[in-house]
Amino acid sequence: MDRVGFPGNNKSAEELTLALDSGVGRIVVDNFHELEMLGKIARAKKTRADVLLRITPGVDPHTHKFIITGSIDSKFGFPMVLREEAAARALSMPEINVMGLHFHIGSQIAETEPWEQSIEFILNFAAEMKQKHGFELKELSVGGGYAIQYTVDAPVPPISVYAEALTSNVISQCQKLKLAQPKLIIEPGRAIVGQAGVALYTAGVAKDIPGIRCYVSVDGGMADNIRPALYGATLEAVVANKMGENDTDKVTIAGKFCESGDVLIRDIMLPPIVAAGDSQTASERAPDAAPSSVDDRDAAEERQVQPEADNRSFRSGPPDTTPYTRPAVPEDYAPQGKPAIPPGVTVPVPNESPDGKNFGNPDCGAN
Ligand SMILES: Cc1ncc(COP(=O)(O)O)c(C=O)c1O
Repeated sequence: MDRVGFPGNNKSAEELTLALDSGVGRIVVDNFHELEMLGKIARAKKTRADVLLRITPGVDPHTHKFIITGSIDSKFGFPMVLREEAAARALSMPEINVMGLHFHIGSQIAETEPWEQSIEFILNFAAEMKQKHGFELKELSVGGGYAIQYTVDAPVPPISVYAEALTSNVISQCQKLKLAQPKLIIEPGRAIVGQAGVALYTAGVAKDIPGIRCYVSVDGGMADNIRPALYGATLEAVVANKMGENDTDKVTIAGKFCESGDVLIRDIMLPPIVAAGDSQTASERAPDAAPSSVDDRDAAEERQVQPEADNRSFRSGPPDTTPYTRPAVPEDYAPQGKPAIPPGVTVPVPNESPDGKNFGNPDCGAN
């Protein structure tokens, strides 16, 4: 347990007690409330809690705003303006043993600069606290956030690039600031487990709306895979029992929950209409290519993620470029150039194949 860190923005007294009782290595203190609560619990237990103080460095890591955690306006960590007060308070508490500092700036960060800026910021702060309060930085956690490759067409830097940038930066900054080198801690999450599995769904109802869209619903959705509904993360899918077949049909993979926004993948080309019982695997793709500025990022969120060009062997045909927007209301579902069916207009009912399995309709074919 001594190698376990315990971060979190709303730890309860029970959780902190359990952490102390079970010998969790470092409690990553997130806020003043937690600091006082932990001090009280440790005092009652006549023990000292080894902690890291989580500071938000206010750096923009150029990733989707829902997965940024180290900005000025964040629910995580001590804000920049209160960092000194936090350090002074923690250092004054006999039951709190401040081992070092911590930051975690976000996820899917494909550049090294945000870490470099954060390291510079945090080590400068450590040097200032050393001067003012005699603080010794024994440990520094730079969090996780190393981008991983979700799709063949979105490569990310190898882990060695991050390792080189982080270590060389810590070493050079410490030399510059005349600080002893702290123990460097990293917290990769998805970089360790992201490749470990896929979500397997079973296709159920196929609903073809002639001239509009073909929905294939699966036995899961936003309850187990929240990110597409939450912030437009895109997924890839294959049909597990039709791996060798050509992708000829454009379908939208819907979840089974009672929200129109419960759509896992919009307009993906898959082998001929997925019939009830077909299994699909999905792996998450980053919300969008990392835009280069906050404005770009906001624009990217606003516009809706377009399917990217795809050169995988199991997907054929030209990439679909039909724009779409995050489905908030049903009207959003109408692709451009295809008006929704006006009231009073009768549309043909889709054909059902004789075996009742394939809900074949010309409109679900290649568009
Ligand atoms: C404090 C902390 N460290 C590390 C991670 C792991 O992040 P990632 O999976 O992006 O590496 C997270 C993810 O939320 C986190 O909150």
